Amino acid sequence: MGRVTVPAEGDPLEGERVPVAAGGLREAVVAMLSSHWRDGGYTVPHSSVYPWQWLWDSCFHALLWAELGDEDRAVAELANLLAGQDELGFVPHMTYHGDPGAGAAFWGRTGSSSITQPPLYGHAVAELVRRRITVPEVVVDRAASGLGFLLAHRARTVDGLITVAHPWETGCDDSPRWDGWCPGGYEPARFRQVKGELLATVERAESGAPLANPAFAVASAGFNALVAWNALELATVVDDERLVAAATELAEALDRRWDPDRVTWTDDGPHASGRVRTADALLVGLVAPRPEAFTALADPRGLGGAYGPAGTDRREPTHDPDAYWRGPVWPQLTYLLQRAALAAGDPVAATLAEGLRAGATTSGLAEYWNPDTGAAGGAVPQSWAGLALLV
Ligand code: GLC
Repeated sequence: MGRVTVPAEGDPLEGERVPVAAGGLREAVVAMLSSHWRDGGYTVPHSSVYPWQWLWDSCFHALLWAELGDEDRAVAELANLLAGQDELGFVPHMTYHGDPGAGAAFWGRTGSSSITQPPLYGHAVAELVRRRITVPEVVVDRAASGLGFLLAHRARTVDGLITVAHPWETGCDDSPRWDGWCPGGYEPARFRQVKGELLATVERAESGAPLANPAFAVASAGFNALVAWNALELATVVDDERLVAAATELAEALDRRWDPDRVTWTDDGPHASGRVRTADALLVGLVAPRPEAFTALADPRGLGGAYGPAGTDRREPTHDPDAYWRGPVWPQLTYLLQRAALAAGDPVAATLAEGLRAGATTSGLAEYWNPDTGAAGGAVPQSWAGLALLV
């Protein structure tokens, strides 16, 4: 396995493709996931572009193994992910199984990265339990402690929202919402350098856990929504009133960020780019549903597309339907938005499900795809495209 010193980002890739015959989505997902499973007990997002364990990807993979009836792999995926947690509850966003030195020069630590990602383990644990899979107590406890770290130790804005310590923590690496931090305007190579530099200003606990970043003091609406929702999901499994109270308070603070003119929730931070209309911002619908936000997901003038919601609204000057995090459909976001619509009883749930299945099929299970044509972008095949089986 080649040594990678920095986290990979989705460069367009020609290579192994899992053909998806009509009606053969499930078979294609089984073939892909089986080839992406590693003996260490986890699934890689892609065999060469993303050859390690990533936090939120693994939570989605656990859901997929559960759907495919492989309980052992579903549980192992989560157990291995959470085994890297520190004493404060911090869960690293990348784990370099089998080659602990691989990212050391970049992160300044061995074995894993030094920042986190959306805590989807709350939903994954709850979903496994709903499917009557036995989740070991240690996994449940670690999931609670991971959420506890974000809720109790992370720096907050004056309005009570949780800040991220780095753009990568949101999972939405090159979102136009971060453009305010890219001097001279967004350009991929320049922003990559900025992301490298932003690691230096992260303030850490003694354990190394990232607590704040004064140079990137931003409370992403999407990230906060996922913290609150995962806490509520986990609370369906553990009896923890404080978790529910903290999540509810966060959801209320988040909903105060609703901008009726732009039909989006906005980030709390120093730059106007935090108001760009993106699909991930509408994840707040998981905890504070609004019919207008669901309608926006299918509006063809804005986010709506035949293959799912565009990542960035078409009316934004930054919209590019084929560029990494600038406008393509992301399957993991579409899955989550579909869950939000389903829970709220909004009919857009059916449109989102249809778009996700069409995009996963047409793109050959790509990392992301064009909202109008379904043309593949990034790594192909990418494990999380399998989420199309779950809607
Ligand atoms: C990209 C994505 C990130 C994901 C990773 C592995 O960096 O932006 O969200 O976790 O790839 O799939």
